[in-house]
Amino acid sequence: MIIAIDGHAASGKSTVARQLAEVSGFVFMDSGLMYRAVALGFLKHKIECTEDGAKVYLPEMQLDVDCVRSRMKVYIDETDVTAKLHTSQVTEVSSLIAKLQIVRDVLLGVQRGFGERFGHTPGILAVGRDMGTVVFPEARMKFFVTASLEVRARRRYNELIQAGNDVTFREIYDAIARRDYQDSNRKIAPLKKAPDAIVVNTDHLTCDSQLQLLLEYIKER
Ligand code: DC
Repeated sequence: MIIAIDGHAASGKSTVARQLAEVSGFVFMDSGLMYRAVALGFLKHKIECTEDGAKVYLPEMQLDVDCVRSRMKVYIDETDVTAKLHTSQVTEVSSLIAKLQIVRDVLLGVQRGFGERFGHTPGILAVGRDMGTVVFPEARMKFFVTASLEVRARRRYNELIQAGNDVTFREIYDAIARRDYQDSNRKIAPLKKAPDAIVVNTDHLTCDSQLQLLLEYIKER
């Protein structure tokens, strides 16, 4: 079974999908981490975020993705970069390279490959922006996870402050607003709810109640 979980930046979709993978045994595949890894590759090799830059870099790119149940690891040039993918620079660049058709085509192949490998057994939780609309339109279940910009910015700000980062709420709020705009307004595979997706608004939900809600929907199905 393929379950597609799409949604806005910082909506909590990856957290809830990882928890679902832990309780269900499904494989967790976060496509956002793939875009982030490609962005890191662009940064590392100082490639311009254009179709021309991508045409030069992508044939050389060494991207490996490893999904084992709820754990996902991403490698660039044979180095595990999973822990380096959430800097503000990588976050910004990932939204830019995600607009490029050639980048999306390469990652679509990788993502569908995981779908073929794990879609039947044990099942896969595919997380991103276009899982239910483009990559797995035939997914058995689709969720669209969202929350207000204010709440998403507050959660991300608290996480960053707890991790010892020196940031302001306004910076985080503006960065997420910018990403929402870029993700929703690009020409190719923009973030949008699939017509058959269940909307989950997490404004007033704790992590645990999000998990319970999704589990109830899945059990019903
Ligand atoms: O979900 P995330 O914040 O880790 O995603 C990072 C960026 O990658 C995001 O700005 C948009 C892009 N992305 C995408 O375009 N399509 C996906 N399926 C997943 C992520």
